[in-house]
Amino acid sequence: MMKIVTVVGARPQFIKAAPVSRALASGGQVREIMVHTGQHYDDNLSAVFFRELDIPAPARNLGAGSGSHGRQTARALEGVEDVLLEEKPDCVLVYGDTNSTLAGALAAAKLRIPVAHVEAGLRSFNRAMPEEINRVVTDHLSAWLYAPTAQAVTHLAAEGIAEERVKLVGDVMFDAALQSAAAAGTPRLDEIGLTAADYVLATIHRAENVDDPHRLQAIMQGLDAASNDIEIVLPLHPRTRKAIAAYGLRIQSPRLRLIDPVGYLEMVALERDARLVVTDSGGVQKEAFFHRVPCLTLRAETEWTELVDAGWNVLAFPASAGAVETAVRSALARAKPAEWPQLYGNGNAARLIADHLATLAGRC
Ligand code: UD1
Ligand code: UDP
Repeated sequence: MMKIVTVVGARPQFIKAAPVSRALASGGQVREIMVHTGQHYDDNLSAVFFRELDIPAPARNLGAGSGSHGRQTARALEGVEDVLLEEKPDCVLVYGDTNSTLAGALAAAKLRIPVAHVEAGLRSFNRAMPEEINRVVTDHLSAWLYAPTAQAVTHLAAEGIAEERVKLVGDVMFDAALQSAAAAGTPRLDEIGLTAADYVLATIHRAENVDDPHRLQAIMQGLDAASNDIEIVLPLHPRTRKAIAAYGLRIQSPRLRLIDPVGYLEMVALERDARLVVTDSGGVQKEAFFHRVPCLTLRAETEWTELVDAGWNVLAFPASAGAVETAVRSALARAKPAEWPQLYGNGNAARLIADHLATLAGRC
């Protein structure tokens, strides 16, 4: 039986891996060994997803933890290499664009083990983002590239990656959203401190927004002011919580609710019932669309440009508190697009990936 080592490590990767892992298990032709680098380690950034999404706990946790890019990636690289030497898999499966993705791909490529990359071909064309470096390198090290969109296929072709290695399969996050819809229930508004079912859901964690005190202050003050119009709930990534404390930022309005990160099912419920999503997350931009909720992205650019073209996502650079406040107000005032195009496949991306991987036995 073909053996695959899957390398995950950060929150969005557990969610992306869930449908693929399920499809691999039900196909019965591939044995998957899940390795967690330990990049994310808090219960609400890691273990909660394994419990909720009903995927087996990782066989190994490499304990890479937090640190500078070099240190964190190096710890994961060292750990993954040891596992690969021991397990000798036929293929290594990686997701997205985090330091764990890069470590998994690099360790495998150096050992001449083929790499399969889910969510290949995404580009922001902004090398100041660590994720852009991770995705470009991972794509160029990969033997098999599973692209979520036609745009991603175009980017890979433009970089000279051989067409036969690229498979347009759709987005596994769409699969995850469809598979979890029934289990998500309704948001626990009382517990969160929301007084009405009419609210904005926000998430902020991108390094470019959090690591610069002026930028984070602009975002928090802008949301604070906008919450006079409508309550805003913001599940805080620990990176953002720590930065808010370190910069001494104060929230004035009780209508901007800062809460701990929530599990995936609660997040789905919050997204689905929100009037507007405001975010700098890659995954949350798409999930807003999956649930037919308009999105405002507080960044200068996005990898998911088709959402902007379709009118479901609007970009606003958070240059000042006023810019953020105005952007939220105008996003709330804008009408929802009439069309909801099928941008991310048919909800069977994971099945297509698992079926393709199964055909590689002996060819990897
Ligand atoms: C990482 C990814 C980013 C992804 C995000 C998903 C990289 C370069 N970045 O960013 O692409 O969008 O995950 O959420 O890989 N921390 C905790 N507990 C944890 C994990 C982190 O407190 O369980 C804190 C630590 O202070 C840490 C900081 O969060 O230094 C940042 O964590 P890190 O994994 O380095 O980057 P993320 O911002 O999470
Ligand atoms: N998410 C979650 N709880 C939260 C915030 C996000 O379950 O409190 C989920 C969200 O639904 C999406 C994924 O985490 O599936 C997005 O991860 P994140 O925003 O951390 O990273 P990115 O997608 O930007 O890499």
